[in-house]
Amino acid sequence: MGKHETNEAQVPRHIACVMDGNGRWAKQRGLKRTDGHTAGEEALHRVVQGASELGVEWLTVYAFSTENWKRPKSEVSFLMQLIDKSILLNRREELHANNVRVKVIGRKDWRVPKGVLRRIDETVELTKNNTGMTFTIAFNYGSQAEIVDAVKSIVACGVPAQSIDEKLIEQHMYDAELPEVDLWLRTSGEYRLSNFMTWQASYAEMVFLDTYWPDMDKSVLEQAIVEFNERHRRFGGL
Ligand code: IPE
Ligand code: IPE
Ligand code: MG
Repeated sequence: MGKHETNEAQVPRHIACVMDGNGRWAKQRGLKRTDGHTAGEEALHRVVQGASELGVEWLTVYAFSTENWKRPKSEVSFLMQLIDKSILLNRREELHANNVRVKVIGRKDWRVPKGVLRRIDETVELTKNNTGMTFTIAFNYGSQAEIVDAVKSIVACGVPAQSIDEKLIEQHMYDAELPEVDLWLRTSGEYRLSNFMTWQASYAEMVFLDTYWPDMDKSVLEQAIVEFNERHRRFGGL
């Protein structure tokens, strides 16, 4: 097996991606930041297809953070539209045909337009019995918010302190089924967690790519998987 080939046995079970660099990709081309997001949506589509072809079981992407509300109103509403119309509405039949199960994690608070919440529910419902890759969209997501919400939910259930352990906390996260992250990936040459999957990625291998997200495709994903396979995961042991 050549160094830059991958087979199914070596593919990480759960890949989590911070899709970063849309704005800089656009700036480099003299385009608007929103053009970068449009190109980023196309890249996301390629990555979902590619990951599913490679046999990835779980792919989770960071689409909008709890901190992204700080951006200009026009950019925020563009991103809301993009998630609603492009990522969900336009792509869902194809995702469904490819046996992909779509999930969404994040805070369903008042700032998220009602139409987007409805579209999320419809898409999740449409694809819920699919048995291929699970594609989770982290939307209005932040790890700290997720842990705060889990703690609230535990307290609301009246759980006694001595019953709280890692397993129980996981059961109160946005998606109790979501497995731990194996490969945590960020594009655009930024070396930050930015509040993404910090609990689930406690033992993930981290790969940082210089590629701006809109230039992502299956072959760049495969390069990241090659890098993942060069690591030796010890999980605290020897
Ligand atoms: C990531 O690209 C997309 C979202 C945060 C939704 P950015 O918009 O952060 O692009 P840069 O980092 O400014 O280049
Ligand atoms: C993280 O990227 C959020 C998403 C990709 C959705 P940002 O571009 O918002 O993160 P910072 O601001 O560089 O930390
Ligand atoms: Mg960014």
